[in-house]
Amino acid sequence: MVANGLKGRNILVGLTGGIAVYKVCELIRKLKNSGANVKVILSKGAEKFVTPLLFASLSGEKAYTDEDFFKPTGEILHIDLAKFPDVVIIAPATASFMAKLASGQADELLLSTLLATKTPVYIFPSMNTNMWEHPATQRNVETLKSWGYRVYEPASGALACNTTGKGRLPEVEEIFETLQAHFVKKDMLGQKVLITGGPTREYIDEVRFITNDSSGKMAFLLAKEAYYRGAEVYLIWGGKELPGIFPRINDFLGIPYPKVFSVSTTKEMLEVAKTLFPKCNLAIFAAAPCDFRPKQAFSGKIKKQEILTLDLELTEDIAKTLSSQKQPDQITIGFALETPENLEKYALLKKKEKNFDFIVANPISTLSAESSDFIVFTPKDKLEFKEVSKAYLAKVLFDLIGV
Ligand SMILES: Cc1cc2nc3c(=O)[nH]c(=O)nc-3n(C[C@H](O)[C@H](O)[C@H](O)COP(=O)(O)O)c2cc1C
Repeated sequence: MVANGLKGRNILVGLTGGIAVYKVCELIRKLKNSGANVKVILSKGAEKFVTPLLFASLSGEKAYTDEDFFKPTGEILHIDLAKFPDVVIIAPATASFMAKLASGQADELLLSTLLATKTPVYIFPSMNTNMWEHPATQRNVETLKSWGYRVYEPASGALACNTTGKGRLPEVEEIFETLQAHFVKKDMLGQKVLITGGPTREYIDEVRFITNDSSGKMAFLLAKEAYYRGAEVYLIWGGKELPGIFPRINDFLGIPYPKVFSVSTTKEMLEVAKTLFPKCNLAIFAAAPCDFRPKQAFSGKIKKQEILTLDLELTEDIAKTLSSQKQPDQITIGFALETPENLEKYALLKKKEKNFDFIVANPISTLSAESSDFIVFTPKDKLEFKEVSKAYLAKVLFDLIGV
Protein backbone atom coordinates (compact mmCIF):
# COMPACT_ATOMS: atom_id res chain seq x y z
CA MET A 1 0.00 0.00 0.00
CA VAL A 2 1.31 3.47 -0.83
CA ALA A 3 0.43 6.92 0.50
CA ASN A 4 -0.92 8.84 -2.44
CA GLY A 5 -2.92 12.01 -2.01
CA LEU A 6 -3.35 12.58 -5.75
CA LYS A 7 -5.57 9.59 -6.56
CA GLY A 8 -8.88 10.80 -7.97
CA ARG A 9 -7.92 14.49 -7.75
CA ASN A 10 -8.78 16.80 -10.64
CA ILE A 11 -5.78 18.77 -11.78
CA LEU A 12 -5.90 21.46 -14.44
CA VAL A 13 -2.54 22.16 -16.07
CA GLY A 14 -2.06 25.44 -17.95
CA LEU A 15 0.88 25.46 -20.37
CA THR A 16 2.35 28.71 -21.64
CA GLY A 17 4.99 29.49 -24.23
CA GLY A 18 8.34 28.88 -22.54
CA ILE A 19 11.08 26.45 -23.50
CA ALA A 20 10.67 24.52 -20.25
CA VAL A 21 7.28 23.29 -21.46
CA TYR A 22 9.00 20.03 -22.46
CA LYS A 23 9.47 19.15 -18.77
CA VAL A 24 5.73 19.16 -18.18
CA CYS A 25 5.23 16.02 -20.31
CA GLU A 26 6.94 13.98 -17.62
CA LEU A 27 4.92 15.73 -14.91
CA ILE A 28 1.64 14.79 -16.59
CA ARG A 29 2.74 11.16 -16.86
CA LYS A 30 3.56 11.14 -13.17
CA LEU A 31 0.23 12.70 -12.24
CA LYS A 32 -1.65 10.19 -14.37
CA ASN A 33 0.33 7.30 -12.88
CA SER A 34 -0.72 8.55 -9.44
CA GLY A 35 -4.36 8.24 -10.43
CA ALA A 36 -5.08 11.97 -10.88
CA ASN A 37 -7.49 13.23 -13.56
CA VAL A 38 -5.60 15.74 -15.65
CA LYS A 39 -6.87 18.30 -18.16
CA VAL A 40 -4.53 20.55 -20.11
CA ILE A 41 -5.06 24.00 -21.63
CA LEU A 42 -2.42 25.40 -23.97
CA SER A 43 -1.94 29.15 -24.24
CA LYS A 44 -1.46 30.69 -27.67
CA GLY A 45 2.28 30.85 -26.94
CA ALA A 46 2.44 27.21 -25.79
CA GLU A 47 1.00 26.08 -29.13
CA LYS A 48 4.04 27.53 -30.88
CA PHE A 49 6.27 25.11 -28.93
CA VAL A 50 4.18 21.95 -28.59
CA THR A 51 1.04 20.43 -30.07
CA PRO A 52 -2.13 19.52 -28.18
CA LEU A 53 -1.84 15.96 -29.53
CA LEU A 54 1.12 15.21 -27.24
CA PHE A 55 -0.73 16.40 -24.14
CA ALA A 56 -4.00 14.74 -25.10
CA SER A 57 -2.10 11.47 -25.45
CA LEU A 58 -0.37 11.91 -22.09
CA SER A 59 -3.43 13.04 -20.16
CA GLY A 60 -5.93 10.73 -21.85
CA GLU A 61 -8.25 13.74 -22.27
CA LYS A 62 -8.82 16.35 -24.91
CA ALA A 63 -6.13 19.04 -24.64
CA TYR A 64 -7.71 22.48 -25.07
CA THR A 65 -6.41 25.34 -27.17
CA ASP A 66 -7.63 28.79 -27.99
CA GLU A 67 -9.41 27.42 -31.05
CA ASP A 68 -11.89 25.67 -28.73
CA PHE A 69 -12.72 28.94 -26.93
CA PHE A 70 -15.12 30.42 -29.47
CA LYS A 71 -16.58 27.21 -30.93
CA PRO A 72 -20.40 27.25 -31.22
CA THR A 73 -20.93 24.01 -29.30
CA GLY A 74 -23.58 25.31 -26.91
CA GLU A 75 -21.17 24.89 -23.99
CA ILE A 76 -19.42 27.70 -22.18
CA LEU A 77 -16.03 26.05 -22.14
CA HIS A 78 -14.06 28.35 -19.80
CA ILE A 79 -16.80 28.10 -17.15
CA ASP A 80 -16.93 24.31 -17.44
CA LEU A 81 -13.14 24.06 -17.22
CA ALA A 82 -13.09 26.46 -14.24
CA LYS A 83 -15.38 24.08 -12.32
CA PHE A 84 -13.26 20.98 -13.01
CA PRO A 85 -10.10 21.29 -10.88
CA ASP A 86 -9.25 20.68 -7.23
CA VAL A 87 -6.04 22.54 -8.01
CA VAL A 88 -4.62 24.44 -10.99
CA ILE A 89 -0.97 24.68 -11.98
CA ILE A 90 0.56 26.92 -14.60
CA ALA A 91 3.87 25.45 -15.73
CA PRO A 92 5.86 26.96 -17.20
CA ALA A 93 4.44 30.46 -16.67
CA THR A 94 5.84 33.04 -19.07
CA ALA A 95 6.46 36.70 -18.23
CA SER A 96 3.82 37.59 -20.78
CA PHE A 97 1.21 35.27 -19.27
CA MET A 98 1.76 36.67 -15.76
CA ALA A 99 1.49 40.24 -17.11
CA LYS A 100 -1.82 39.42 -18.73
CA LEU A 101 -3.19 37.68 -15.64
CA ALA A 102 -2.02 40.50 -13.36
CA SER A 103 -3.90 42.99 -15.52
CA GLY A 104 -7.06 40.89 -15.56
CA GLN A 105 -6.96 40.07 -19.26
CA ALA A 106 -9.21 37.28 -20.43
CA ASP A 107 -8.79 37.25 -24.19
CA GLU A 108 -7.79 33.58 -24.40
CA LEU A 109 -9.16 30.33 -23.00
CA LEU A 110 -6.53 29.82 -20.28
CA LEU A 111 -6.86 33.39 -18.93
CA SER A 112 -10.66 33.31 -18.94
CA THR A 113 -10.66 29.96 -17.14
CA LEU A 114 -8.34 31.36 -14.47
CA LEU A 115 -10.55 34.38 -13.93
CA ALA A 116 -13.56 32.12 -13.62
CA THR A 117 -12.14 29.72 -11.02
CA LYS A 118 -11.86 30.02 -7.26
CA THR A 119 -9.61 26.95 -6.99
CA PRO A 120 -6.06 27.40 -5.61
CA VAL A 121 -3.60 28.17 -8.42
CA TYR A 122 0.13 27.39 -8.34
CA ILE A 123 2.23 29.37 -10.81
CA PHE A 124 5.71 28.14 -11.80
CA PRO A 125 7.46 30.97 -13.69
CA SER A 126 10.35 30.13 -15.99
CA MET A 127 12.34 32.59 -18.07
CA ASN A 128 15.68 34.29 -18.70
CA THR A 129 17.11 35.86 -15.52
CA ASN A 130 16.85 39.45 -16.80
CA MET A 131 13.21 38.86 -17.78
CA TRP A 132 12.54 37.51 -14.27
CA GLU A 133 14.31 40.42 -12.58
CA HIS A 134 12.61 43.06 -14.74
CA PRO A 135 10.55 45.42 -12.55
CA ALA A 136 7.45 44.73 -14.64
CA THR A 137 7.70 40.98 -14.00
CA GLN A 138 8.44 41.52 -10.31
CA ARG A 139 5.50 43.88 -9.97
CA ASN A 140 3.20 41.38 -11.69
CA VAL A 141 4.41 38.57 -9.43
CA GLU A 142 3.70 40.72 -6.35
CA THR A 143 0.23 41.54 -7.65
CA LEU A 144 -0.54 37.87 -8.29
CA LYS A 145 0.76 36.88 -4.83
CA SER A 146 -1.36 39.58 -3.20
CA TRP A 147 -4.43 38.00 -4.85
CA GLY A 148 -3.59 34.60 -3.38
CA TYR A 149 -1.83 33.02 -6.36
CA ARG A 150 0.95 30.73 -5.16
CA VAL A 151 3.89 31.88 -7.22
CA TYR A 152 6.82 29.47 -6.88
CA GLU A 153 10.23 31.17 -7.06
CA PRO A 154 12.13 29.85 -10.10
CA ALA A 155 15.24 27.84 -9.39
CA SER A 156 18.78 29.00 -10.16
CA GLY A 157 21.01 27.16 -12.59
CA ALA A 158 21.73 26.68 -16.27
CA LEU A 159 19.05 28.23 -18.50
CA ALA A 160 18.03 27.27 -22.03
CA CYS A 161 19.21 30.69 -23.26
CA ASN A 162 22.80 29.58 -22.53
CA THR A 163 23.14 31.66 -19.39
CA THR A 164 23.18 30.74 -15.73
CA GLY A 165 20.96 32.39 -13.15
CA LYS A 166 17.51 32.47 -11.66
CA GLY A 167 14.70 31.46 -13.97
CA ARG A 168 14.66 27.67 -14.21
CA LEU A 169 11.47 25.70 -13.95
CA PRO A 170 11.83 23.48 -10.87
CA GLU A 171 12.44 19.81 -11.60
CA VAL A 172 9.34 17.66 -12.19
CA GLU A 173 9.74 15.99 -8.78
CA GLU A 174 9.55 19.36 -7.03
CA ILE A 175 6.35 20.38 -8.84
CA PHE A 176 4.87 16.93 -8.21
CA GLU A 177 5.73 17.11 -4.50
CA THR A 178 4.19 20.59 -4.25
CA LEU A 179 0.94 19.07 -5.46
CA GLN A 180 1.23 16.12 -3.08
CA ALA A 181 1.76 18.57 -0.20
CA HIS A 182 -1.21 20.64 -1.31
CA PHE A 183 -3.63 17.80 -0.53
CA VAL A 184 -2.22 17.00 2.93
CA LYS A 185 -4.29 18.29 5.84
CA LYS A 186 -2.32 20.88 7.81
CA ASP A 187 -2.92 19.34 11.22
CA MET A 188 0.58 19.79 12.66
CA LEU A 189 0.87 23.57 12.43
CA GLY A 190 2.88 24.94 15.35
CA GLN A 191 4.39 21.54 16.25
CA LYS A 192 8.15 21.10 16.44
CA VAL A 193 9.44 17.70 15.38
CA LEU A 194 12.92 16.27 15.77
CA ILE A 195 13.83 13.33 13.51
CA THR A 196 17.14 11.50 13.36
CA GLY A 197 17.89 9.66 10.12
CA GLY A 198 20.47 7.73 8.15
CA PRO A 199 23.51 5.80 9.30
CA THR A 200 26.44 7.33 11.17
CA ARG A 201 30.15 6.78 10.49
CA GLU A 202 32.83 5.84 12.97
CA TYR A 203 36.30 6.46 11.65
CA ILE A 204 39.09 3.89 11.81
CA ASP A 205 41.58 6.28 10.24
CA GLU A 206 41.11 9.41 8.13
CA VAL A 207 39.73 7.54 5.10
CA ARG A 208 38.13 4.35 6.44
CA PHE A 209 35.08 4.06 8.61
CA ILE A 210 32.49 1.68 10.03
CA THR A 211 28.90 2.29 8.93
CA ASN A 212 25.75 0.37 7.96
CA ASP A 213 23.39 0.07 5.03
CA SER A 214 20.57 2.34 6.27
CA SER A 215 19.19 4.48 3.43
CA GLY A 216 17.54 6.95 5.80
CA LYS A 217 14.45 6.79 3.62
CA MET A 218 12.05 6.19 6.51
CA ALA A 219 13.37 9.22 8.39
CA PHE A 220 13.22 11.37 5.27
CA LEU A 221 9.62 10.35 4.57
CA LEU A 222 8.66 11.08 8.18
CA ALA A 223 10.25 14.52 7.87
CA LYS A 224 8.39 15.16 4.62
CA GLU A 225 5.05 14.05 6.02
CA ALA A 226 5.48 16.25 9.13
CA TYR A 227 6.46 19.22 6.91
CA TYR A 228 3.45 18.69 4.61
CA ARG A 229 1.22 18.64 7.68
CA GLY A 230 2.63 22.01 8.73
CA ALA A 231 5.17 21.10 11.42
CA GLU A 232 8.52 22.76 11.98
CA VAL A 233 10.95 19.95 11.20
CA TYR A 234 14.52 19.39 12.39
CA LEU A 235 16.15 16.49 10.59
CA ILE A 236 19.50 15.33 11.94
CA TRP A 237 20.98 13.48 9.02
CA GLY A 238 23.88 11.03 9.07
CA GLY A 239 23.57 9.90 5.45
CA LYS A 240 25.07 11.29 2.27
CA GLU A 241 22.51 13.03 0.05
CA LEU A 242 18.87 13.19 1.07
CA PRO A 243 16.84 10.60 -0.85
CA GLY A 244 14.43 13.28 -2.14
CA ILE A 245 13.58 16.97 -1.93
CA PHE A 246 11.46 19.18 0.26
CA PRO A 247 9.40 21.42 -2.08
CA ARG A 248 9.43 25.11 -1.18
CA ILE A 249 5.80 25.23 -0.06
CA ASN A 250 6.91 27.22 2.99
CA ASP A 251 6.76 30.38 0.84
CA PHE A 252 2.99 30.42 0.65
CA LEU A 253 1.87 28.28 3.57
CA GLY A 254 3.80 30.05 6.34
CA ILE A 255 5.50 26.81 7.44
CA PRO A 256 9.24 26.95 8.16
CA TYR A 257 11.37 25.07 5.63
CA PRO A 258 12.81 21.88 7.22
CA LYS A 259 16.21 22.38 8.81
CA VAL A 260 18.64 19.60 7.97
CA PHE A 261 21.69 19.12 10.20
CA SER A 262 24.33 16.94 8.56
CA VAL A 263 26.42 14.94 11.00
CA SER A 264 28.95 12.19 10.68
CA THR A 265 29.45 10.28 13.94
CA THR A 266 27.00 9.05 16.57
CA LYS A 267 28.50 11.49 19.07
CA GLU A 268 27.88 14.42 16.70
CA MET A 269 24.31 13.25 16.15
CA LEU A 270 23.74 13.19 19.89
CA GLU A 271 25.27 16.65 20.42
CA VAL A 272 22.99 18.24 17.82
CA ALA A 273 19.95 16.30 19.07
CA LYS A 274 20.60 17.46 22.64
CA THR A 275 20.39 21.12 21.62
CA LEU A 276 17.13 20.62 19.68
CA PHE A 277 15.26 18.10 21.82
CA PRO A 278 14.13 20.47 24.62
CA LYS A 279 12.20 22.70 22.20
CA CYS A 280 10.46 19.84 20.34
CA ASN A 281 7.18 18.24 21.31
CA LEU A 282 7.83 15.12 19.26
CA ALA A 283 11.08 13.23 18.65
CA ILE A 284 11.41 10.29 16.28
CA PHE A 285 14.58 8.26 16.47
CA ALA A 286 14.68 6.70 13.03
CA ALA A 287 18.46 6.84 12.48
CA ALA A 288 20.71 3.79 12.43
CA PRO A 289 23.64 5.15 14.44
CA CYS A 290 26.71 2.91 14.70
CA ASP A 291 26.65 1.18 18.04
CA PHE A 292 30.43 0.72 18.12
CA ARG A 293 33.44 2.86 17.29
CA PRO A 294 37.16 2.14 17.28
CA LYS A 295 38.66 2.99 20.66
CA GLN A 296 41.38 4.80 18.83
CA ALA A 297 41.04 6.56 15.47
CA PHE A 298 44.36 6.67 13.63
CA SER A 299 45.54 9.82 11.92
CA GLY A 300 46.39 9.56 8.22
CA LYS A 301 45.86 6.20 6.48
CA ILE A 302 46.79 2.91 8.12
CA LYS A 303 49.31 1.04 5.97
CA LYS A 304 48.29 -2.31 4.53
CA GLN A 305 49.26 -5.11 6.91
CA GLU A 306 48.65 -8.83 7.41
CA ILE A 307 46.36 -8.54 10.41
CA LEU A 308 44.75 -5.48 11.90
CA THR A 309 42.86 -5.87 15.15
CA LEU A 310 40.42 -3.14 16.03
CA ASP A 311 39.39 -2.47 19.59
CA LEU A 312 35.80 -1.25 19.60
CA GLU A 313 33.82 0.54 22.29
CA LEU A 314 30.13 1.36 22.60
CA THR A 315 28.95 4.69 21.23
CA GLU A 316 26.45 6.96 22.94
CA ASP A 317 22.79 5.81 22.99
CA ILE A 318 21.05 8.84 21.46
CA ALA A 319 17.45 7.64 21.85
CA LYS A 320 17.93 6.46 25.44
CA THR A 321 19.80 9.56 26.54
CA LEU A 322 17.15 11.93 25.23
CA SER A 323 14.05 9.87 25.91
CA SER A 324 15.09 9.57 29.58
CA GLN A 325 14.97 13.39 29.74
CA LYS A 326 11.48 13.48 28.25
CA GLN A 327 9.03 16.00 29.72
CA PRO A 328 5.30 15.16 30.16
CA ASP A 329 4.38 17.21 27.07
CA GLN A 330 6.89 15.39 24.84
CA ILE A 331 6.33 12.21 22.82
CA THR A 332 9.17 9.95 21.68
CA ILE A 333 9.07 7.25 19.03
CA GLY A 334 11.73 4.63 18.41
CA PHE A 335 12.42 2.09 15.70
CA ALA A 336 13.59 -1.46 16.31
CA LEU A 337 15.30 -3.31 13.48
CA GLU A 338 15.54 -6.97 14.41
CA THR A 339 15.64 -10.46 12.94
CA PRO A 340 12.04 -11.66 12.30
CA GLU A 341 12.06 -14.33 15.04
CA ASN A 342 12.97 -11.81 17.78
CA LEU A 343 11.14 -8.81 16.38
CA GLU A 344 8.34 -8.38 18.88
CA LYS A 345 10.27 -9.44 21.96
CA TYR A 346 13.20 -7.06 21.39
CA ALA A 347 11.00 -4.21 20.23
CA LEU A 348 8.98 -4.34 23.44
CA LEU A 349 12.12 -4.55 25.56
CA LYS A 350 13.55 -1.57 23.72
CA LYS A 351 10.34 0.44 24.13
CA LYS A 352 10.49 -0.03 27.90
CA GLU A 353 14.24 0.36 28.32
CA LYS A 354 14.35 3.56 26.27
CA ASN A 355 11.16 5.08 27.62
CA PHE A 356 9.48 5.43 24.18
CA ASP A 357 5.76 6.16 23.84
CA PHE A 358 5.62 4.32 20.51
CA ILE A 359 7.94 1.87 18.85
CA VAL A 360 7.96 0.61 15.26
CA ALA A 361 9.30 -2.92 14.88
CA ASN A 362 10.63 -3.80 11.46
CA PRO A 363 12.60 -6.78 10.13
CA ILE A 364 16.20 -6.36 8.91
CA SER A 365 14.99 -6.64 5.29
CA THR A 366 13.44 -3.13 5.70
CA LEU A 367 16.87 -1.51 5.70
CA SER A 368 16.96 -0.19 2.15
CA ALA A 369 13.59 -1.52 0.93
CA GLU A 370 10.70 0.61 -0.36
CA SER A 371 8.08 -1.30 1.62
CA SER A 372 7.95 -3.83 4.44
CA ASP A 373 5.92 -5.41 7.21
CA PHE A 374 5.75 -3.24 10.33
CA ILE A 375 4.40 -3.66 13.84
CA VAL A 376 3.59 -0.46 15.71
CA PHE A 377 3.32 -0.62 19.48
CA THR A 378 1.39 2.40 20.72
CA PRO A 379 1.11 3.14 24.47
CA LYS A 380 -1.81 0.68 24.56
CA ASP A 381 -2.11 -1.33 21.34
CA LYS A 382 -0.25 -3.48 18.88
CA LEU A 383 -0.97 -2.75 15.20
CA GLU A 384 0.33 -4.89 12.36
CA PHE A 385 0.89 -3.65 8.80
CA LYS A 386 1.65 -6.10 5.98
CA GLU A 387 3.85 -4.97 3.07
CA VAL A 388 3.09 -1.25 3.27
CA SER A 389 5.25 1.52 1.84
CA LYS A 390 7.41 3.61 4.13
CA ALA A 391 5.46 6.69 2.98
CA TYR A 392 2.23 5.05 4.08
CA LEU A 393 3.73 4.13 7.46
CA ALA A 394 4.87 7.74 7.96
CA LYS A 395 1.30 8.92 7.42
CA VAL A 396 -0.17 6.26 9.72
CA LEU A 397 2.29 7.07 12.51
CA PHE A 398 1.30 10.74 12.67
CA ASP A 399 -2.38 9.74 12.53
CA LEU A 400 -1.82 7.38 15.46
CA ILE A 401 -0.06 9.96 17.57
CA GLY A 402 -3.16 12.05 17.04
CA VAL A 403 -1.32 15.28 16.41
C1 LIG B 1 12.44 30.38 -28.54
C2 LIG B 1 11.64 31.16 -27.56
C3 LIG B 1 11.76 30.84 -26.23
C4 LIG B 1 11.03 31.54 -25.26
N1 LIG B 1 11.15 31.18 -23.94
C5 LIG B 1 10.47 31.89 -23.01
C6 LIG B 1 10.59 31.53 -21.65
O1 LIG B 1 11.28 30.58 -21.28
N2 LIG B 1 9.91 32.28 -20.75
C7 LIG B 1 9.14 33.34 -21.10
O2 LIG B 1 8.58 34.00 -20.21
N3 LIG B 1 8.99 33.67 -22.40
C8 LIG B 1 9.64 32.97 -23.35
N4 LIG B 1 9.50 33.31 -24.69
C9 LIG B 1 8.58 34.40 -25.04
C10 LIG B 1 7.15 33.89 -25.07
O3 LIG B 1 7.04 32.76 -25.88
C11 LIG B 1 6.22 35.01 -25.58
O4 LIG B 1 6.21 36.07 -24.65
C12 LIG B 1 4.84 34.48 -25.86
O5 LIG B 1 4.06 35.55 -26.36
C13 LIG B 1 4.20 33.94 -24.61
O6 LIG B 1 2.91 33.54 -24.90
P1 LIG B 1 1.94 32.94 -23.81
O7 LIG B 1 2.14 33.68 -22.55
O8 LIG B 1 0.59 33.07 -24.40
O9 LIG B 1 2.28 31.50 -23.67
C14 LIG B 1 10.19 32.60 -25.66
C15 LIG B 1 10.06 32.90 -27.02
C16 LIG B 1 10.77 32.17 -27.95
C17 LIG B 1 10.59 32.51 -29.40
